[in-house]
Amino acid sequence: MISAVARLLCHCLVVDEAEVRKAIRAGARTVDEVGERCEAGTGCGSCRAGIAILLEQHRRRAGSGGDAASLLSQLGLFRDGDGEG
Ligand code: FES
Repeated sequence: MISAVARLLCHCLVVDEAEVRKAIRAGARTVDEVGERCEAGTGCGSCRAGIAILLEQHRRRAGSGGDAASLLSQLGLFRDGDGEG
């Protein structure tokens, strides 16, 4: 049985996981760069963690070691202050 169901990663911009992986293979190295290439993550932002995971997977496969902390910092989840903005 062939599974042709694409996993929708970004619901706001209707971008599936394959499209995000394509952007990463084409050279996107940050969540924002993925957004520039395919718009994923440029709406509500709730999919940005998923994009960061795909970036990290790519880095690990590429053998560059990656820096999970820098990817997580792009998400803005751990800002100082009251959490607003
Ligand atoms: S689900 Fe991707 S920006 Fe909202």
